[in-house]
Amino acid sequence: MSQRTPVIAGNWKMFKTIEDARAFAAAFDADAKNSVDPEVVICPPFTALNALKEAFAGTRVQLGGQNLHWMDEGAYTGEISPVMLRDAGATHVIIGHSERREYFHETDGTVNRKVAAALQWQLTPIVCVGETLEDREVQLTDNVIIVQTQRALLNIAPELVATCLFAYEPVWAIGTGKTCAPEEANRVAGVIRDTIARMVGQDVADQVRILYGGSVKPETIASQMAQPHIDGALVGGASLDPKSFAAIVNYKAAAAR
Ligand code: PGA
Repeated sequence: MSQRTPVIAGNWKMFKTIEDARAFAAAFDADAKNSVDPEVVICPPFTALNALKEAFAGTRVQLGGQNLHWMDEGAYTGEISPVMLRDAGATHVIIGHSERREYFHETDGTVNRKVAAALQWQLTPIVCVGETLEDREVQLTDNVIIVQTQRALLNIAPELVATCLFAYEPVWAIGTGKTCAPEEANRVAGVIRDTIARMVGQDVADQVRILYGGSVKPETIASQMAQPHIDGALVGGASLDPKSFAAIVNYKAAAAR
């Protein structure tokens, strides 16, 4: 059995004002707010981070950014640095989400620089990897996953790799209502773990937590979490509603009923 503590992370994308974020925090279930297993991370827009830091003070909810720049500061109009993310209350940061790769031209190279910068500032990276439908149709899934994983972790010290979170997010499953079959998500999470093991050793690879993301819902979470390589979920749409996100966080209690 894995000793890895599961993590449920919510990715709010470009949704919610400060007022909406406060309303979410007020409505979020007390058990979910204080959950130790799984750990809970919410990644709101930058503008709502500080308000949520206050709203969740005294709870176990951790906060994350959805992106960062790799420099500490500088003339980079529109960017947010790791120092600023820490300052606003973040402990985590999503890096290389497929929407950033697709719409904002992020490359494996910038993902790697961002991972290094996040780790330097003790921000836990949530590194996203995943294949498109075209990749899958021509049997390139494993190649894409291996290359994205290797390039994200280039020159990162093994003890820091151990602290990273990975998210396997098949692009065709994001926001589409199509979840990846749990056995297949587990197989690909295993490819990520094997790739990490080849780079920095099996001991480190066994510590890395790998989340599944792509249309995760209260009805599908338990079957994903039952898979040996899947240590959590990165949840988009279903994290926007406090009831559905709490139902996902409380998946063990729901399964016991
Ligand atoms: P989804 O998004 O749950 O809405 O599919 C997941 C993600 O993009 O991280």
